[in-house]
Amino acid sequence: VAKRREDYRAPEFTITDIALDFTLDPSATKVVSELQVKRQDNANAPLELDGEHLQLLEVAIDDLPFGDYQQTDSGLVLNNVPDAFTLRIVTQVNPSENKALEGLYLSNGVYCTQCEAEGFRRITYYLDRPDVLARFTVKITGDKASLPTMLANGNPIEQGSNTDGTHWILWQDPFPKPSYLFALVAGSFDQLTDTFVTQSGKSVALELFVDKGKRQRGEFALEALKRSMRWDEEVFGLEYDLDIYMIVAVDFFNMGAMENKGLNVFNSKFVLADQASATDEDFFNVESVIAHEYFHNWTGNRVTCRDWFQLSLKEGLTVFRDQQFSSDMSSPLSNRIKQVRVMREHQFAEDASAMSHPIRPDEVIEMNNFYTVTVYDKGAEVIRMMHTLLGAEGFRAGMDEYFRRHDGQAVTCDDFVSAMQSATDIDLTHFSRWYSQSGTPRVEVKRAYDAASNKLTVTLTQQNLATADQSEKHDLYIPLQIEFLAADGQHVAPDSGMFRDNLVILDKPVTELTFTGKGSNITPVALGNFSAPVKLTSDLTPLEWLHTFRFANDAFSRWDAIQQLYNWCIEQYYQGSPQQIEKVIWQGLYEAVEASQDNPEILGECLVVPSFETLCQTRENIDVHALNEARQTFSHDLAEFMSDLLLVIYQTNQSDSYAYEPAQVSSRRCKNVVLTLLAELPLAETLITEQFSGSDNMSDTLGALKAAQQFDLVLFNNLMNEFEQRWRDDPLVLDKWFGLHATCDRSDILAQLTLLRQHPQFSQQNPNRVRAVIGSFAFYNTSGFHADDGSGYRFLTDYLLELDKTNPQVASRLVTPLTQWQHFAPSRQALMRQQLSRLLDDASLSKDLYEKVSKALAYG
Ligand code: ARG
Ligand code: ZN
Repeated sequence: VAKRREDYRAPEFTITDIALDFTLDPSATKVVSELQVKRQDNANAPLELDGEHLQLLEVAIDDLPFGDYQQTDSGLVLNNVPDAFTLRIVTQVNPSENKALEGLYLSNGVYCTQCEAEGFRRITYYLDRPDVLARFTVKITGDKASLPTMLANGNPIEQGSNTDGTHWILWQDPFPKPSYLFALVAGSFDQLTDTFVTQSGKSVALELFVDKGKRQRGEFALEALKRSMRWDEEVFGLEYDLDIYMIVAVDFFNMGAMENKGLNVFNSKFVLADQASATDEDFFNVESVIAHEYFHNWTGNRVTCRDWFQLSLKEGLTVFRDQQFSSDMSSPLSNRIKQVRVMREHQFAEDASAMSHPIRPDEVIEMNNFYTVTVYDKGAEVIRMMHTLLGAEGFRAGMDEYFRRHDGQAVTCDDFVSAMQSATDIDLTHFSRWYSQSGTPRVEVKRAYDAASNKLTVTLTQQNLATADQSEKHDLYIPLQIEFLAADGQHVAPDSGMFRDNLVILDKPVTELTFTGKGSNITPVALGNFSAPVKLTSDLTPLEWLHTFRFANDAFSRWDAIQQLYNWCIEQYYQGSPQQIEKVIWQGLYEAVEASQDNPEILGECLVVPSFETLCQTRENIDVHALNEARQTFSHDLAEFMSDLLLVIYQTNQSDSYAYEPAQVSSRRCKNVVLTLLAELPLAETLITEQFSGSDNMSDTLGALKAAQQFDLVLFNNLMNEFEQRWRDDPLVLDKWFGLHATCDRSDILAQLTLLRQHPQFSQQNPNRVRAVIGSFAFYNTSGFHADDGSGYRFLTDYLLELDKTNPQVASRLVTPLTQWQHFAPSRQALMRQQLSRLLDDASLSKDLYEKVSKALAYG
């Protein structure tokens, strides 16, 4: 059954205080919950608590046994309750049997919880909704020897030992919070500690808990935390509010991390990093996820969501904040490109699929399905557009007002926009349609020249096509960054119509800009800095893309020009006429690269050919193998054409010592991107072998392996075997190895996958392993997943039918590639739908898979 946003009703009761008492046991953990309940309005309503997979042991009201209730499989209904009372509920749960990793679970000897979005109801009966904010105290009792560390939110206020070998601790969180922010962790860890002094002089204890023996790999995360804390003070004036901030890294986790108040729980993948075991990208991700969860303390925890339809209120905003942070810590351009790749590869695909939804969804069957690139990343783009419109100062003023109005409350996206409205003269009413409308707008740039009046008209058109979820669309309010280049590379300005320097607002279907007396030869450079999440098409010629690369001011536009040109080139191959690519174009690309040699950052980005997934977003009726082949052949020819230059770049970007810092990261990336291109050519063999054997860091090691995968199977297998020997006892590192095997282009890939599943380090219970093997295959092995006989689709389906029984959340993420058939040729769509039907035929299919699969089958 779907829930609808418009059906929101305020709760009939609220809970002001909750005292939880856990007695930890692997298969029978007892949970005593004492709630202070207050009726809000309706005098007759029964109290309906949420609860799932619980064994109910006891119910009492004001210390007297209470029997007037009904138990359903989704909760507990208590009839004829007073207006204000103490409710005592005792339940029992089985953490070791909990393979869904929602609620309280035990993995590798560690008890931990994941409550967002609706996991708390798997711990005890409760009003498990974000608009019920209560003060929590939590007592934990557990075995002293195996569980020396027992944590919950807030501050530890009392502890002691019992005579039976157990000990106990009492935690208190002074800030009222919704149940999804509750956390409990118990286990045995290595601990890193530090202090942070806030700008107002308060001292905060920082504590990071990692697996025994992994201490040194936690150091970077702790430093990243301090940088995040400082940054939020400097940029947003936001200070941490408790005396202690704890982060725990666990090996079994469905997502990246969770911002539980004062006690973040992380997938160890986003905490552990050192030179030997982590790539530059891993370091980047650790820092950005640490920042993301920290920033949630204000955008998410102090101000939270009224209901789950408002998820982007905290996620879009917090992603935007972590993006700004990352950009300040490293390189703005490569950060922006990274963000845009996510949009073009994944978000555009989601919006074109049966799962299309606005950043604030209207209808949800399983909330876990809506932690999406749309809610998160498109949500962040919408916040970014407000930042563009209001400017940095205006945006800050709006944020200040948001906290002034809503600190301590559970609010809506409309509340956020209205706080922003208070800080600007721009009317945000039209803009706010971005919250309710799904789909990727198309923006077209076209020119017409009238010689008689010497007037050039640039027509900017927006088009909003129907999506799976919405047939009717409206025009949006699109801030389009744009610059105009004359033939000599000088900038020119239109007669009028600009909102501000380099910014035009598209708020109707057609917007025209004219240039009088400046001739016909003007190149519009649109969508600077990816100023709006739209698909851009234009009438630029290949030579004009090169012109843009040479003369545009906006670095993102320069990169994008090369991407558009690659896209055009690949299209010529795809159409079977690569000879359309004239010599001047090859030459122009060569010169563009040559001219950028002193800038490894842009060079590294410009030498990445658009991914297969990105190429799909601007095409219909795709012949998968022909398009993939076109992309490969173009890459090969490009590498060949500029091999001498690439070799020089490869050599000049060697460094003799390793540090994770922006200049080195750019240079290393550039070198490894070049190596992947060179891997198209025989001369690469020695480069790859030497880089692999001489490498003292994971970035270069992985760079060599990726190049080897491209080069040939013999070299690849040799190096992969060596790598496996070195890292066989380190599953987190071995995930990279799993991923490389699973994305290899080889005819016996399914047999390979079967071997990988039998590997001693593979475990179907561990989401990281599953994502590394099955996820890499489904998302990124174009040739294997899309095998013409449908065997790739069948393999994934077989796997999901199994996985869904234990971990529906992860299964539902992995089904995504199968649901995104809309760009492919009809025969292929039929094969994919066939497998989707097999899933739907499973009578015990989870809500999670049901929602995505049934939508995908109903669409088209
Ligand atoms: N709030 C977490 C984060 O963005 C993610 C939690 C995801 N939970 C889920 N059930 N999908 O930082
Ligand atoms: Zn988040």
